This record gives sequence, C-alpha cells and structure tokens, in this order.
Amino acid sequence: MLLLAGFGLIFNVHAQPPAPPPLPAEFQSTDVIEFQGEGSPDNEFCLNCHENPYLQMTLASGEVVSVTVDADAYADSVHGQHGTEGYRCIRCHDNNREYPHEEVSATNRRELSIELSTACARCHTDKFDETMDGVHLMALIDGNEEAAVCSDCHTGHEVQRLTDEDTGRPLPESSELAAQMCESCHADIYNVYANSVHGEAVLAGNSDAATCSNCHGVHSITGPTSSSEFRLFSPESCATCHADEELMAEYDISTDVFDTYVADFHGTTVTLFQRVTPGQAFNSPVCVDCHGTHNIVSADDPSSTVMKENLLGTCQQCHPDATANFSDAWLSHYQPDAEHAPLVDLVNKIYAVLIPVIIGAMILFVASDIRRRWADRNHEDL
Ligand code: HEC
Ligand code: HEC
Ligand code: HEC
Ligand code: HEC
Ligand code: HEC
Ligand code: HEC
Ligand code: HEC
Ligand code: HEC
Ligand code: HEC
Repeated sequence: MLLLAGFGLIFNVHAQPPAPPPLPAEFQSTDVIEFQGEGSPDNEFCLNCHENPYLQMTLASGEVVSVTVDADAYADSVHGQHGTEGYRCIRCHDNNREYPHEEVSATNRRELSIELSTACARCHTDKFDETMDGVHLMALIDGNEEAAVCSDCHTGHEVQRLTDEDTGRPLPESSELAAQMCESCHADIYNVYANSVHGEAVLAGNSDAATCSNCHGVHSITGPTSSSEFRLFSPESCATCHADEELMAEYDISTDVFDTYVADFHGTTVTLFQRVTPGQAFNSPVCVDCHGTHNIVSADDPSSTVMKENLLGTCQQCHPDATANFSDAWLSHYQPDAEHAPLVDLVNKIYAVLIPVIIGAMILFVASDIRRRWADRNHEDL
C-alpha cells in the first residue's frame, strides 16, 4: 500500500509541468485593464498579454491550458487577412473585451473548445445549419464530447481558405486537407484509406479521386449507423465520378459500371428499395460490398476483392453455395457482347430486330383498324 502511494507521488511529481516564470505585475493587480484607444479593443491590446509564451490557465478539471496566441499564424489565416487589417480578436471573443475576463464556464479543455467554437456560427450560419443534420452535432447533443466541432477541422486561429474566392469551387488542395482533418479522430480508417486507390491519389495531391467528404458529405456528414439510407444511396455517390465520361477517360476506367450495375439483378433490387422502401434493411450488394469501402484498390490489384481469383469468395459472403461457375457465368460490368456473353448478345441482337418489327406491325394494325371504324361511321367507301 505504502509502496503504491510512493509510486503515485513520484508519478504526480513528474506529471507537473515546469513552473512558469512569474507573470508581469499587471496580473497581480485586481484593477480592470481596459483598452485605452478609440472604439473596440484592437488586436495589439489582446496580444500584449497573449503573445506571452507563459500565459496559461488552470481549469476545474486540473488541466493547464496555454493561452498563448501565435500572432503571425493568425495574421496569415483567412480571418487575419480579411479586409485591410483582418478581423479583430473580439469578433470571435466578444466576452473578453477587458481583463480580468469573465469567469470561464468550461470545466475542461474539451468543453472550452466546444464553447469557443460556437463563435463561428455567428457569421457562417449556413454552415452551422448544415451541421444540424450531421452525425457529429447529433453525437454532441447526445453527450459525446469527442464529436467534431468547427475548430477540430478548421482550427480556431489558423483557418485556411478551402474554396476559390472567385468561383466558389473547392481548391485543389482541399481534398487532401479534408482527409487530414478526419485523421486525428478516425485514424484507423484514415490509415486504411491512405493505401486505397482513392487515398493514394488524393494524398499525392490529386483531387479527382474520392476524399472522405465526397462520400460522407462536408458539414452534414452521414454514415451507415446515423442514416439508414446512407448505404442504399451509396452507389449514386460513386456514380458522381464513375459515370463522368470526361473524368474517367483520363484514367481509362469504364463508365459503364453504374449503368451495368443498375441493370443487373442486384442493382435492380437496390433501385426498387430506393424508390419504395428507402428506410428498410436490404441484403443485395451495393458497390462497396464487392469492392471494399476504405480499402478499394484497382480491379487488377492482386489484393482486390473483385480480382478473378478472389471474386468467388466475395460472392460467397452472400451466396455461400456458389461454385466457380457461378461467378464465371456472371456478366460483371460488361455490356453483353460477342466476346463476353455471346449467347446473351445473340438474344439481345435478335430482340433488337424482333421487337421493332412486332411493335411496328402492331401500330400498323391499330392504325388500319381506326381508319376502318372511321370509314364505317362516315359511311365512306373504302
Ligand atoms: C492583461 C492581460 C490580458 C489582456 C489585455 C487580455 N487577456 Fe485574454 N487572458 C489573459 C489571461 C491571464 C487569461 C487566462 C485566464 C484568466 O486568467 O482569465 C486569458 C484568457 C483568455 C481566453 C480564454 C479563456 C476565455 O475566457 O475564454 C480568451 C479567449 C482570451 N483571453 C481572449 C482575449 C482577447 C480577445 C483579448 C483582447 C480583447 C484579451 N484576451 C485580452 C490575459 C489577458
Ligand atoms: C475566427 C474566430 C476567432 C478569432 C478571430 C480569434 N479567435 Fe481565439 N479562438 C477561437 C476559437 C474557435 C478557439 C478555440 C480553439 C480550440 O479549439 O482550441 C480560440 C481560442 C482562443 C484562446 C484560448 C486558448 C486556445 O488556444 O484554445 C485564446 C486565448 C484566444 N483564442 C485568443 C485570441 C486572440 C488574442 C485573438 C486575436 C489575435 C483571437 N483569439 C482571434 C476563435 C477565434
Ligand atoms: C465575424 C465573422 C466571422 C466569424 C466569427 C468567422 N468567420 Fe470564417 N470567414 C468570414 C469571412 C467574411 C470569410 C471570407 C474571408 C475573405 O474572403 O476575405 C471567412 C472565411 C472562412 C473560411 C474560408 C472560406 C472559403 O471559402 O474557403 C473558413 C473555412 C472559415 N471562415 C471558417 C470559420 C471558422 C471555423 C470560424 C470559427 C473559428 C469562423 N470562420 C468564424 C467571417 C467570419
Ligand atoms: C468534420 C470536419 C468539419 C467540421 C466539423 C466543420 N467543417 Fe467546415 N469544412 C470542412 C471541409 C472538409 C471543407 C471543404 C469543403 C469543400 O471541399 O467543399 C469545409 C469548408 C468550410 C467553409 C468554406 C467552404 C464553403 O463551402 O463555403 C466554411 C466557411 C466552413 N467550412 C465553416 C465551418 C463552420 C462554421 C463549422 C462549424 C459550424 C464547420 N465548418 C465545421 C470540414 C469541416
Ligand atoms: C469512396 C467513398 C468513401 C470514402 C472516400 C470514405 N468513405 Fe467512409 N464509408 C463509406 C461507406 C460506403 C461506408 C459504409 C460501409 C459499410 O456500411 O459497409 C463508410 C463508413 C464509414 C464510417 C462508419 C463505419 C466504420 O467503419 O466505422 C466512418 C467513421 C467513415 N466511413 C469515415 C471515413 C473517413 C474518415 C474517410 C476518409 C479518411 C472516409 N470515410 C472515406 C464510403 C467512403
Ligand atoms: C474531433 C474528432 C472528430 C473529427 C475531427 C472527425 N470526426 Fe467523425 N466522428 C467523431 C465521433 C466521436 C464519432 C462517433 C459518433 C457516434 O458514434 O455517435 C464520429 C462519427 C463519424 C461517422 C460515423 C457515422 C455513422 O453513421 O457511422 C462518420 C461517417 C464520420 N464521423 C466522418 C468524419 C469525416 C468525414 C471527418 C472529416 C471530414 C470526421 N468524421 C472528422 C469524431 C470526429
Ligand atoms: C470524387 C470522385 C470519385 C468518387 C466519389 C469515387 N471514385 Fe472511385 N475513382 C476515382 C478516380 C479519379 C479513380 C482513379 C484513381 C487513380 O487511378 O489514380 C478511381 C478509382 C476507382 C477504382 C479502381 C479502378 C481500376 O480498376 O483502376 C475503383 C474500383 C473505384 N474507384 C470504385 C469506387 C467506388 C465503389 C466508389 C463509391 C463507393 C467510388 N469509386 C467513388 C474517383 C472517384
Ligand atoms: C457483385 C459485385 C460487384 C458490384 C455490386 C459492383 N462491382 Fe464493380 N467490379 C466488379 C468486378 C468483378 C470487376 C472487375 C471486372 C473486370 O475487369 O473483369 C469490377 C470492376 C469495376 C471497376 C473497374 C472498371 C475498369 O474499367 O477498370 C470500377 C470502377 C467499378 N467496378 C466500380 C463499381 C461501382 C461504381 C459500382 C456500383 C455502382 C460497382 N462497381 C458495383 C464487381 C462488382
Ligand atoms: C451483399 C450480398 C451479396 C453479394 C456480395 C453478392 N450477391 Fe448476388 N444476390 C444477393 C441477393 C440478396 C440476391 C437476390 C436479390 C437480388 O437480385 O438482388 C442476389 C441475386 C443474385 C443472382 C440472381 C439469381 C439468384 O441466385 O437469386 C445472381 C446470378 C447473383 N446474385 C450473382 C452474384 C455474383 C456472381 C456475385 C459475386 C460477384 C454476387 N452475386 C455477390 C446478394 C449478394
């Protein structure tokens, strides 16, 4: 017992941060320190104290938080650059106009970040509204304080521009930055994604490939647990790129993949669920059931779940009795042609001739029938 207590003491001693040097005399005084210039306090007033590298505070949880602000980093941020002299600190920290500041209500570091992030919603109301439908705000409301708030993804003082000022379109680097924003909390998924065909491209600076937010949304982020419709409509999110002729031509990837999927029995069932009972559970495969999700690789990659040698195993997840013939007989994404499915192709070709002939004959028959009735009614001689 005594030994344990002794260890505790040693650890505690080591856990203490080094004592900061004493702060300037103004902090010992109880006088209110106010901005002396015209109008509202400028940044210089705040930074006089906040550039002090030893400035810190202790929260009720016992956590010691540095309140030093990197003035140069802020000046480089999108808000520091706004207008002619950048936004003043008080645009976000309205409650801190004088010192001593108002009592901080956050009891720990995490609560402080959550509270200070509410300032962003004042100007970016639209973005805040979007997060209302997202998984993170919902989790936060349910009491999960680890869920992402604005400053987790954008930071508080080093906010970067992500869209083009003139066109409003995402900047090329925003795909890579977006994935990195998620990394801190979803490291396992990020690490898998980083080795996928999409992740390798995005993290090498190629914004054509899918980043996290292309599939999950930006501010109204959803996923398979938070939304029963997420999986069901996921093929549409793949199609935004994989049915885009111009984009896919650059990579020599077929754009038939979405149409052939929808035309196939699996896709037909999924489409039916989308239209009729979108909220209900379904067991037909969507794209990611065959290709993997965060680990998607090229169809030629030996580790690919859709590679010829691995394909049967992929089908067997749902068709446990399937044999090699089963996956061989399936058309995959191919349009039936003389090479890939000669029989289906032949039947299709016969249909292509037969159907117009039959329909044409029927139209002719109906037309001549109408003509005859008309003639009969008008006692015309034909
Ligand atoms: C006289 C020095 C001094 C001045 C001037 C000052 N601060 Fe502070 N500030 C502190 C200290 C010390 C703390 C640590 C907590 C405490 O003691 O209240 C702090 C804490 C903070 C915090 C974090 C805690 C909280 O209240 O949310 C913010 C944000 C903050 N200051 C913003 C500002 C802004 C904005 C200005 C300028 C308008 C400013 N401060 C001016 C000394 C100062
Ligand atoms: C665009 C809004 C915005 C502006 C402008 C801004 N801050 Fe902050 N500030 C925040 C947010 C959000 C946080 C919380 C960041 C986090 O999660 O740690 C924060 C945190 C702080 C803290 C607490 C310590 C910390 O890092 O968490 C201090 C002190 C502070 N700001 C001072 C300032 C000063 C001084 C300026 C002006 C030079 C300034 N802020 C400008 C939004 C802003
Ligand atoms: C006082 C109003 C105001 C507040 C508060 C504010 N912003 Fe901004 N923000 C702006 C304006 C205005 C711009 C555009 C700046 C420009 O174009 O010069 C901007 C730009 C941005 C951009 C870049 C936009 C783009 O198109 O790429 C991001 C990201 C952003 N803000 C996030 C935040 C976050 C996060 C917070 C809270 C920490 C915040 N903002 C707080 C007004 C504000
Ligand atoms: C989970 C991470 C995440 C959170 C949380 C988040 N954002 Fe964003 N935000 C992003 C990403 C990623 C982009 C880039 C969007 C793109 O590529 O179109 C972005 C873009 C923006 C933009 C500029 C782009 C535009 O469409 O105008 C603003 C402004 C912005 N966010 C503000 C906010 C505010 C305010 C909050 C909090 C209410 C917030 N964000 C919360 C990830 C996040
Ligand atoms: C190509 C589209 C796509 C990309 C890119 C993508 N995801 Fe996903 N993600 C999905 C799909 C689809 C699911 C549902 C998978 C399922 O239900 O089997 C999912 C599931 C999830 C889940 C919840 C399930 C779980 O495994 O915990 C999280 C969290 C998640 N993704 C985060 C991320 C993050 C973070 C990134 C970026 C590093 C990312 N995703 C990139 C499509 C994508
Ligand atoms: C500050 C930490 C944090 C950051 C940063 C963050 N997340 Fe999350 N995210 C969470 C937490 C916590 C949950 C779990 C919510 C729950 O389980 O209720 C979550 C859940 C999710 C889910 C699961 C939804 C579901 O239905 O299964 C998805 C998808 C997701 N996040 C995507 C993202 C993406 C994309 C980014 C980056 C743009 C991101 N997250 C950034 C903390 C974070
Ligand atoms: C934002 C656009 C985008 C989205 C969304 C997207 N992809 Fe991709 N995908 C790409 C690009 C671009 C490539 C080529 C990357 C490269 O080769 O560097 C690619 C490559 C692939 C490949 C490898 C093809 C091959 O054999 O080389 C597969 C498989 C794939 N994606 C499946 C999917 C699936 C499944 C989804 C939906 C869950 C999806 N993608 C969503 C853009 C996207
Ligand atoms: C039942 C399993 C299955 C489903 C569901 C499925 N795929 Fe495939 N996919 C495959 C197989 C097998 C291949 C390899 C075809 C070949 O090259 O022989 C493939 C190949 C691909 C390729 C590479 C094409 C090329 O030109 O290199 C892409 C991209 C792709 N699929 C995307 C998708 C998308 C997007 C969806 C959903 C709309 C989807 N797949 C649904 C099994 C599937
Ligand atoms: C996620 C589960 C799942 C996966 C993976 C899957 N299937 Fe299916 N498959 C189904 C379901 C459910 C049905 C019946 C409903 C329908 O048509 O979607 C079905 C129907 C079929 C049918 C129609 C005849 C029948 O047996 O009902 C064929 C053929 C078929 N699948 C082939 C394949 C092949 C080949 C693969 C592998 C490339 C595969 N499936 C992968 C779930 C799956």
